Amino acid sequence: MINVGDFRMIIDNSGGSGHPGPNSLSHRPPPKPIPLNEPRALPTPTDASPAPPTVSEVLPTAATKQTQTLGTAPQGIRFCVGKSYGTGKPQSYYLHPSNTKLNQLNIGIVGDLGTGKTQLTKALIYQFTRAAKQNRGHQPKFLIFDHKRDYTKSEFIESVGAHVVKPHHIPLNLFDLSQAGDHVGAARLGRVKFLNDVLQKIYGGIGPVQRNHLKTAVLRAYESVPNGLPTLRDVLREYEEIVGDKVDAPYSILSDLADLEIFVPDAADAIPFRDFFAGIVVIDLAALGIGEKERNMLLVIFLNLFYEYMQGLEKKPYVGDSPQLRYIDSMLLVDEADNIMKFNFDVLRQILLQGREFGVGALLASQYLSHFKTRETDYTEPLLTWFVHKVPNVTARELDAIGLNNVGPSMVERVKTQDVHQCLFKTFDVPGRLMRGIPFFELVGGR
Ligand SMILES: Nc1ncnc2c1ncn2[C@@H]1O[C@H](COP(=O)(O)OP(=O)(O)OP(=O)(O)O)[C@@H](O)[C@H]1O
Ligand SMILES: [Mg+2]
Repeated sequence: MINVGDFRMIIDNSGGSGHPGPNSLSHRPPPKPIPLNEPRALPTPTDASPAPPTVSEVLPTAATKQTQTLGTAPQGIRFCVGKSYGTGKPQSYYLHPSNTKLNQLNIGIVGDLGTGKTQLTKALIYQFTRAAKQNRGHQPKFLIFDHKRDYTKSEFIESVGAHVVKPHHIPLNLFDLSQAGDHVGAARLGRVKFLNDVLQKIYGGIGPVQRNHLKTAVLRAYESVPNGLPTLRDVLREYEEIVGDKVDAPYSILSDLADLEIFVPDAADAIPFRDFFAGIVVIDLAALGIGEKERNMLLVIFLNLFYEYMQGLEKKPYVGDSPQLRYIDSMLLVDEADNIMKFNFDVLRQILLQGREFGVGALLASQYLSHFKTRETDYTEPLLTWFVHKVPNVTARELDAIGLNNVGPSMVERVKTQDVHQCLFKTFDVPGRLMRGIPFFELVGGR
């Protein structure tokens, strides 16, 4: 039995130090500048990253202050992600997410345990968050699903100005349709479909009769509350009225969820998702007391809220010509993404496919390439940028499937035996190069 008192919803700026921050999202401090441990030389432009010799965009050092111009044309967000290793001519490799030649913003990161996926991911987030100036003044936002408390450490939180949200009394209401505009009827049915889908995929064993009960309960709950904003408790009450004392699986699942009070029990305490998602938000899925199923459920709820938020975004026009630049609104990060990809929730696929129109991308990290392809869903298609760390059993066919064509046996062997932080990098202007990715701890000079 879960003791709800064991965990609290904390929007925590303390970096996992155990000292809860203020229970409000509206007082987020700006990111603190982090001193770098050593000055860095300007990377040399490379074949893989064609640029005139006037390049001045590099790692975000104090000296360069994120100047992002190549010649005269603004470059948008573009930063160094790694350097070549070995005996050849040294090269630096860049990610250029603002460039519309990169058709999708989505990024795949793959690699065995401890190969540097999280360090690389944190470095990417760090570089994105320092690039507001190159993004029409907007700091790209991140919604981070943290399964292992990797993103709750003070050094990371302080360097990017993140908020950590623990799964208790999160100030959101799943049944809030304020972003649905005129389509309230369809949105209500959307909530029904979503709940049924989640219960079926995560918990299993939900039949047609129960699905119908749930539909009736949700629709009645919307009608029964004066403000049109029911909570899970209201849905549960309506469900109970339908089934009487014949308690069934959906009832007990919903009842457990309501008891956990993951979200605020009173609809009046909830805020719209667009206000909640105000910057870098880390959802601490590893918080004590929440089981695997609740974790997955929470993740899917957030995916749906994020998807709705995305669809409400204004599609900003591209600017410039060469390069043509997009505006980046936000990124979704799912580390340990196999936890959710295996369920084939359509919402994740839709975010991956449609995100580009809204300046939205997803970053999915997992141990094996096989995780990115389930029987029903091929998540690799909309992932156009890849960082492939050491994967012991990787095959040429798997690499081919993510766009690394014509990879010979020797390259496959090298991928299998790469050292920590080394990876095969691919993006629209880098066809697949071995490099040592720059880990977060080197960027911020910490431990
Ligand atoms: N401050 C630091 N100084 C030096 N090396 C570090 C530091 N922090 C992390 N590392 C290195 O980074 C490696 C782990 O990287 P990371 O946590 O990114 O791996 P991962 O691929 O995410 O692992 P997992 O699959 O377990 O999540 C460690 O093994 C360690 O070698
Ligand atoms: Mg990791």
